[in-house]
Amino acid sequence: MKVLGVNALFHDPAAALVVDGVTVAAAEEERFSRRKHGKRPVPFSAWELPELAARWCLEEAGLDVGDLDAVAYSYDPALARPAEEMGLDDPWDHLRQDYARRAPGFLTSALPGLDPAAVRFVPHHVAHAASAGLASPHHDDTDVLVLDGRGESASHLAGTYDRGRLEVMRTQELPHSLGLLYESVTEHLGFLRSSDEYKVMALASYGRPRFLDELRHAVRTTGDGGFATDPVDWQSLVKRRDADEPWTSDHADLAASVQQRLEEVLLELAGWLHERTGRRALTLAGGVALNCVANSRLLADGPYDSVWVQPAAGDAGTSLGAALHVASTGGDATSPMPGADLGRSWSDEELAAWLTTARVPFTRPPDVADEVARCLADDGVVAWFQGRSEFGPRALGRRSLLAHPGHERNLERLNDVKGREQFRPVAPMVLAERAAEIFGRGPLPSPYMLFVHDVAPDWRGRIPAVVHVDGTARVQTVDAADDPLLARMLSSFERRTGLPVVVNTSLNTAGRPMVDSPRDALECFGSAPVDLLALGPFVVRRAGWVA
Ligand SMILES: [Fe+2]
Repeated sequence: MKVLGVNALFHDPAAALVVDGVTVAAAEEERFSRRKHGKRPVPFSAWELPELAARWCLEEAGLDVGDLDAVAYSYDPALARPAEEMGLDDPWDHLRQDYARRAPGFLTSALPGLDPAAVRFVPHHVAHAASAGLASPHHDDTDVLVLDGRGESASHLAGTYDRGRLEVMRTQELPHSLGLLYESVTEHLGFLRSSDEYKVMALASYGRPRFLDELRHAVRTTGDGGFATDPVDWQSLVKRRDADEPWTSDHADLAASVQQRLEEVLLELAGWLHERTGRRALTLAGGVALNCVANSRLLADGPYDSVWVQPAAGDAGTSLGAALHVASTGGDATSPMPGADLGRSWSDEELAAWLTTARVPFTRPPDVADEVARCLADDGVVAWFQGRSEFGPRALGRRSLLAHPGHERNLERLNDVKGREQFRPVAPMVLAERAAEIFGRGPLPSPYMLFVHDVAPDWRGRIPAVVHVDGTARVQTVDAADDPLLARMLSSFERRTGLPVVVNTSLNTAGRPMVDSPRDALECFGSAPVDLLALGPFVVRRAGWVA
């Protein structure tokens, strides 16, 4: 079957294409439209579709709209109830439901030639579940836990996959929602809800969980696999922070309290599920699964031998999950996703043409990996653009900003380059075979940066730029078999510096989507103090900069 998956309704619109059970393309609309998260998550924008991403998916596979067997839409309006009945204060939600019901019509206008009867509604959390269970290497035998802000009428799904078939064991109905709780504290702390939740997680490591009692009172598991979240009067705990106000230890303490309670509840939910299935692997999806601190706690203190997290765990990933679900229930044997590099790429000739058009002087060194390693060893900052772009919010060595990890000030320097808050950590990428020696506790390999690891004490002083205030780092391991170019760059950097680690952060500036195309890369290079741009095999140097 040829199935196009579409996520559109809430946020992070995205499209994915699954052909005969194999994931061939997946991309978020923001990478094309250059609007962060694709759109604001309001009911009025619920009709907007990931048109550019969807058309690109078809083009990438050489398919026409008429070739599609199904379009899988990751929301089923038949499962929704009126917002007030679900206890949600969302007066325009009916508009969202109406747009969802009309999605086949909207899809037909966005993709001329589509038969509206080909559109299948896939329940939102089933789509999330498939993005974890079916996309993971454990897809024949794994439990799955989905936690997000909300789907149609629930915020959670606990289930298990047996030979590709999902058995749902528990869902938690709204208004109880760990995702909405985390979103509401995100807003109270002066960040953008449905967008900046990871900043709360970063801030938490600076605080003490001194409001834990209050949080334990308000957020409880119910003993039957579900949970309850009472509304929390945040203002009674800590004064609201305005976006432009500096944060205080009170704000960090509140973040730490919510973070710790989230981890406790996740452990209890996972314990309940494991008790019923006895399976060894757990897969995770839903926005809450982007919380790499909680994921690590779940693995360290929970009952499962392995935890696998969908790299596009937020709603973007439901485009892939919906497509995999429809393919699987339609009889196709689905394969695990091949990696997170499922987006656009350009040939060397196309990249050269972009550089020529932009009238940028460039060279083609004998080995771009070695050239980049040399610049990094000399403490340059490098924009690294190689191969297919990443699906999901993490830069994984395809659209990355790289620096030397041995200089502590490089953390501040990179946050300055990107124009973002100084409490935000940057992450290390490391050669897979060297990771265990440096990053002790935490799952290895860790190719998708979805867990935190303890940095071995004798390494903390050697790679200070990537060590977070609590002695941890969010590691990406690089295997030469999966990404030979990146591995070669890391090896070359190690030969020059003795460090098999490079600082990696996403290639973008604050508030903008990640760089996707060569034009985006050139714009970013032109406006940020980056020393070298490695665009495929080509190198562009900042004028006046001498290696
Ligand atoms: Fe979701």
